[in-house]
Amino acid sequence: MTDAATSADRPAAVEFHRVTKIYAPATPREYVAISDVSFTIPDIVDHGEISSFLGPSGCGKSTVLRLVAGLEPQHPPTSGTVHVLGRPILGPASDRGMVFQDYTSFDNRTVLDNVAFGLECQGMSRDDRHALARDWIAKVGLDPDRDGAKYPHELSGGMRQRVAIARTLVLRPRIILMDEPFGALDPATRLDMQDLLVALWREVQATVLFVTHSVEEAVYLGDRVFVMATTPGRIAEEIRLPAASAPARETQSQPWFHEQVQALHARMQRIEAEARRPNGRGG
Ligand SMILES: Nc1ncnc2c1ncn2[C@@H]1O[C@H](COP(=O)(O)OP(=O)(O)O)[C@@H](O)[C@H]1O
Ligand SMILES: [Mg+2]
Repeated sequence: MTDAATSADRPAAVEFHRVTKIYAPATPREYVAISDVSFTIPDIVDHGEISSFLGPSGCGKSTVLRLVAGLEPQHPPTSGTVHVLGRPILGPASDRGMVFQDYTSFDNRTVLDNVAFGLECQGMSRDDRHALARDWIAKVGLDPDRDGAKYPHELSGGMRQRVAIARTLVLRPRIILMDEPFGALDPATRLDMQDLLVALWREVQATVLFVTHSVEEAVYLGDRVFVMATTPGRIAEEIRLPAASAPARETQSQPWFHEQVQALHARMQRIEAEARRPNGRGG
């Protein structure tokens, strides 16, 4: 069976239908963050996809992600509907997990207890949650004994994001929401983290929504790239790409990759120039 056939009779992983979000409506600070946004990310059996959301600052990328997460004040949308796995979103739930750019673990908990935190909230016993947390600490490339006992301030930025990923994936969400998770990392660490994400994504077969500023990152990771434009925030284009199949450094030296990146950089420059015009969209 083809992907299309297997996904045709399943509800979409994520579906936006004509979603508009206006912040501070009916006040002097009223602001249309996203307008009339529609897209569908299919739920492909035993596979999952990575969708990149690429766009200039302020185009509504975080708004889109937080609507999927069900987090206020983005949730609920002003108009339109957001469905995940066929159900309307009522708020945060364990079928969706989020990884932010800023390190969000608890300073006063060890790495082990940070990774086990969500399991603790679910009521899992201490021994069980520690065993599972140790597995995930190893999966993200850290040492369960040595690193598990450390506190967040004793870790590098890359290690912190490994912990953030472990903390989210240990809960096995079907939908993984990542908001510029590697944006603060140095270029080499960033490539390592891209490889790690692809490896883990293959294992957990979840649907990933990945927000980034980086054209290279969007093209490498994305099975599809949603290119966003601004004023108001909207989806300008949806591009299908080959799935990440080789390590980041290898893929990123290939001709097709450079062509895609160049074309998208040009597209982004046009979108940013358009946004700088006094009346927004312009001609
Ligand atoms: N809680 C909020 N209240 C008012 N305006 C907001 C709020 N959150 C975001 N915005 C505005 O909405 C627009 C889109 O924001 P955001 O989704 O964070 O964009 P991005 O992640 O693409 O940079 C921005 O102009 C931002 O200033
Ligand atoms: Mg953002």
